[in-house]
Amino acid sequence: MRVLVTGGTGKTGSAVARGLRARDVAVTIGSRHPRGPDQVRFDWADPSSHDAALAGVDAVYLVTPAMDPEPDRLMVPFIDRALARGVRRFVLLSSSAIDARAPGIGAVHAALQARAPEWTVLRPSWFMTNFADPQHALGSGIRNERAFVSASGQGRIAFIDPEDIAAVAVATLLAPANADLILTGPEALSYDEAAAILSEVLGEPVVHRPIAVDEWCARLTAAGMPTEYAAMLGALEQAIAGGAEDRVTDEVLRRTGRPPRSLREFARAAFAL
Ligand SMILES: NC(=O)c1ccc[n+]([C@@H]2O[C@H](COP(=O)([O-])OP(=O)(O)OC[C@H]3O[C@@H](n4cnc5c(N)ncnc54)[C@H](OP(=O)(O)O)[C@@H]3O)[C@@H](O)[C@H]2O)c1
Repeated sequence: MRVLVTGGTGKTGSAVARGLRARDVAVTIGSRHPRGPDQVRFDWADPSSHDAALAGVDAVYLVTPAMDPEPDRLMVPFIDRALARGVRRFVLLSSSAIDARAPGIGAVHAALQARAPEWTVLRPSWFMTNFADPQHALGSGIRNERAFVSASGQGRIAFIDPEDIAAVAVATLLAPANADLILTGPEALSYDEAAAILSEVLGEPVVHRPIAVDEWCARLTAAGMPTEYAAMLGALEQAIAGGAEDRVTDEVLRRTGRPPRSLREFARAAFAL
């Protein structure tokens, strides 16, 4: 079996590639900037790169093109091309906030459901790595000011470690679920509660400042995010404030045999100096 891992240089994809290799599964990593023998040039926006990436491939891990509000325009034709070449199995990284009725990535989910013989859609909650990534607004705020903002008030999110998402991806690349799986960490936390955990781990106060959603979106666009994508994330912040993400599922344990990592455990590892 050979798996094409799109997004294979990113957070979940690199862990998926590692997990597959540990199980003696051959891996092709698709990247816009390939480095090394197992990587091929793959750009969602350049269909001429797609056939070579699919050479000898039996299954595909699908990560959307970055910050594209309509990823279905590029991804659905790719899935059709892969199916025509005999690929049977797909695992799509989506989001807990999006189902198959939603436009954009929801349409990719719907296409897999309708056309792929073996498929799984992973719908993870928000990533714990957002708190530690200097490229992310949360991570840079914590690193530079020991403070971060949100527009989700006291709404709770069951933050998840991308390593746990990757472990479920590996499990479902080997044994498809033919279902969408909502993946969460072990506990739903407000950003105030997350800040308290980070304060304890870092040994100094980390402050969460709630702000209005318009200001929150304006900060993202000022930092270079496309307006439409920032507006979509802003709508998700409001949904969180209303309780949409206040839930915990047991899918990580069910699919991998081990419980998901807590934010405290993640932070101890991520902030260890
Ligand atoms: N952060 C969260 O809280 C959260 C929550 C739920 C869902 N998600 C979803 O998670 C996904 C991101 O996954 P991740 O964190 O594993 O990835 P990531 O670390 O953000 O890395 C993005 C990956 O996508 C690849 N990529 C980006 N644009 C591409 C293009 N045009 N063509 C080919 N490859 C492209 C990059 O590869 P190269 O640069 O090597 O080409 C890179 O490997 C997004 O769909 C996001 O919506 C995130």
